[in-house]
Amino acid sequence: MKVEFYGHIRQYHNIKAEIDGNIKEVLESGQYVMGPMLKQFEAELAKYHGTKFAIGLGNGTDAIWLAMMALGIGPGDEVITHPNTFFATAEAIWIAGATAVFVDCDTQTRCIDPAQIEAAITPKTKAIIPVHLYGQCADMKAIRKIADKHKLYVIEDNAQAIGARGDGFKVAELSDAATTSFIIQKNLGTFGDSGALVTNNEKIDSTVRKLRNHGSNQRNVHSFGFNSRLDDLHAGVVSAKLKHIDAWNDLRRKWAARYTAGLKGAKSFTLPTERNGYRHVFHLYIIETKRPEQRDAFLKFLNDSGVDAKTHYSIAIHQQAGYPWGKGARIAGSLANAERNAATCISLPMFPELTEQEVDYVVGQCLEWDRKA
Ligand SMILES: Cc1ncc(COP(=O)(O)O)c(C=O)c1O
Repeated sequence: MKVEFYGHIRQYHNIKAEIDGNIKEVLESGQYVMGPMLKQFEAELAKYHGTKFAIGLGNGTDAIWLAMMALGIGPGDEVITHPNTFFATAEAIWIAGATAVFVDCDTQTRCIDPAQIEAAITPKTKAIIPVHLYGQCADMKAIRKIADKHKLYVIEDNAQAIGARGDGFKVAELSDAATTSFIIQKNLGTFGDSGALVTNNEKIDSTVRKLRNHGSNQRNVHSFGFNSRLDDLHAGVVSAKLKHIDAWNDLRRKWAARYTAGLKGAKSFTLPTERNGYRHVFHLYIIETKRPEQRDAFLKFLNDSGVDAKTHYSIAIHQQAGYPWGKGARIAGSLANAERNAATCISLPMFPELTEQEVDYVVGQCLEWDRKA
């Protein structure tokens, strides 16, 4: 049996009429950039998050650094995040010209460990970027408290967790802005690149809206800016998909529960945990081998048996060759948990359109490995 890692084509076939309908509507409108479909989608996305504003952007990386730029964060400033995230989180800090400060992650969730943040704060610190890693919110209540105490901005990198909730808080509720990515493989993904930012802050909204469009919100009138727009065709795709995101996240949760029930009792690897009161949306279902030296052999065993397992992310940012490429970077304290995560993680296939047979096959292969390990 073969189990793919992604189900893009199955998903397209399931809602083909809705996606095709929106694409046709855009094509027939003659307005493909900054047109009515983008406007409609931005309103839908803001409503979904319960925020005043949503801005469609070129990708999720731009969304992070545009938020920083709107907040006046740049050269000479420090921004705290953790190194076991997708590279783009740190990359965005560097694109903004700021210094990335890495602290360790939590042992359970692998999101940023709030307990490590305060010791990393200096007079240069301007912001914290928690990542809602793998589909589970970081501990935003603790992060908000630290940010208030030290007067710091908070930008949530929500590329992996659209539809997730914390214990009594929503995404974008306890921060200045939350950013997201709609690249193909995300929980809400289009057939290419794009992203967005949601916020309740009017200044961030008006500044990013101009910055994304060559510094312009009026024809022929410009200030310094960029080109980072979500085009209407992609807006049409994510608009069609947004209507299904909660049901798809429920399916992800169902498959995660089936993996967890099937794999409970395995001795050679640990399973992901969901914090009490949180809604984890399982962008990724990550297991970790107890011994780092077992990871690559286990991954190969799964791949050889037809399971397209992967790793997210097997090289922590501060361990990448050439780090930090002449950019501002600082390591604050031990990064042992992040390094362990990088050395032991395996991502099992996870997408809403999986079948019971596929999930059970993956479970069976993992248990077979466990018996031999
Ligand atoms: C945590 C995280 N941050 C940022 C990004 C960047 O998004 P994009 O690829 O749309 O630039 C991604 C995904 O690619 C991500 O997973």
